[in-house]
Amino acid sequence: MKRLLFACSTLITFNSFAQNNLVLNVDAAKTTISRQIYGHFAEHLGHCVYGGFYVGEGNTKIPNTNGVRNDVIAALKKLKIANLRWPGGCFADTYHWKDGIGPKNKRPTMVNAWWGGVTEDNSFGTHDFLNMCELIGTEPYLAGNVGSGTVQDLTDWVQYVNFNGKSPMSNLRQQNGREKPWHVTYWGVGNEAWGCGGNMTPEHYADIYRQYATFMTGWSNETKIFRIASGASSDDYNWTEVLMKNIPINMLGGVALHHYSVINWSKKGPAVDFSEEQYFQIMKQALLMDSLVIRHSAIMDKYDPQKRVALVVDEWGGWYDVEAGTNPGFLYQQNTMRDAMIAGATLNIFHNHCDRVRMANLAQTINVLQAVILTNEEKMILTPTYHVMEMYNVHQDAKMVPLTVTCNDYAFGNEKLPAISASASKDSTGAMHISLVNIDSKATQDVNITLEGGNYKTVGGRILASGKLQDHNTFAAPDKIKPVLFQGATLKGKTLSVKMPPFSVVVLELK
Ligand code: AHR
Repeated sequence: MKRLLFACSTLITFNSFAQNNLVLNVDAAKTTISRQIYGHFAEHLGHCVYGGFYVGEGNTKIPNTNGVRNDVIAALKKLKIANLRWPGGCFADTYHWKDGIGPKNKRPTMVNAWWGGVTEDNSFGTHDFLNMCELIGTEPYLAGNVGSGTVQDLTDWVQYVNFNGKSPMSNLRQQNGREKPWHVTYWGVGNEAWGCGGNMTPEHYADIYRQYATFMTGWSNETKIFRIASGASSDDYNWTEVLMKNIPINMLGGVALHHYSVINWSKKGPAVDFSEEQYFQIMKQALLMDSLVIRHSAIMDKYDPQKRVALVVDEWGGWYDVEAGTNPGFLYQQNTMRDAMIAGATLNIFHNHCDRVRMANLAQTINVLQAVILTNEEKMILTPTYHVMEMYNVHQDAKMVPLTVTCNDYAFGNEKLPAISASASKDSTGAMHISLVNIDSKATQDVNITLEGGNYKTVGGRILASGKLQDHNTFAAPDKIKPVLFQGATLKGKTLSVKMPPFSVVVLELK
């Protein structure tokens, strides 16, 4: 695979440059961009689950199916979310799944210690979540409790949801109204074991992982469940090294990685009224994902040269101060064009490293952090991040087209970032899609794309752009930002010319 190259120069300072060159090696497309990169995350946190996905069976104001909002189901179906991670996050290591099954009026309450200290009634549990995944048409990804649970609890959970024969757990499932198992493939073995998941050392966690993973399956994982080890935070390379060294490859489906775009954990800055400096710093953090993926992958390559184990970036996104007047433990933040830039650039990074990054989860789906959906009683809006992920879903399960990028810099003060981020893929019909992001806050960028191979006659596409970086959708103006047809691309033979407005995302289709 040709290496993706970011080489940028800062020579010119007026408004539209012609120094952005992309070369697409169309005939070299061979590695699949797993659709599982398009995963989302639903934690019991603030109003993600309760009040976001789930409004209760008895709700007569908000149309729902078994308590799950119909508008949310429709929006997530359209988004083609590939998997949904639940119930946490930090919450997962406090969650006892047996409290969330059976008649709802008999379920015990629990205190959500990590997120706002609120009391939950356990009305949204295993059946509710897995049935909801069926409604949405997405694969569930269950995060097991390792921090405060037991090996037996997690083994029982696997049996409860997956076992087809007769057993105490499958009998219990049937008593609770579900005859056939759900066949859940994706299982997290704890979450952030280095922090809220138990403050463990990597050595200790690697041993614990081996123990839990052993009892989740039979001798040779006949049921083919995909176990994911709790992974590193950002640049904690030692964590990945210790896990890869100490856990046999055949016990690992994936190793996780969490990376948030945050300026400073004690001074994150506002979600909407941010300065250009704050924008630049967030983009720097978002683009760091490229080197994180490269370096964690290099460690994995040492122990797993055949790339059998996936790097699973199961938490990523922008993290800002909560909106004024909201519960600080609920992590509710608006979503602007800045978030669209993070989403577009991050997905491009995942595509370009799809040989190792085969699963990922944006944090989080509704009303929490970089959400794709915000709700307010019966109202629901789609954020700029939603629109980027919807525009990009054409890449799901397509073959990644290797490319090289030479581009202008987006400079702020003494620092600079590459202005253009790109990825491309060929789908099963032969159509090629190219995703481009111009993160520059001021300059229009002219991008010249050379197609090495392929034979395309037409180009079309859509663009997401707006007047101000801080622009966002609101309940009063839900469609201020949405994708529109893009007229700024011209195809002449093997050359494609694209004019990208400042802070815009474009997805092109070539046929
Ligand atoms: O997404 C919010 C929290 O961030 C998750 O619960 C945790 O895993 C991470 O620290």
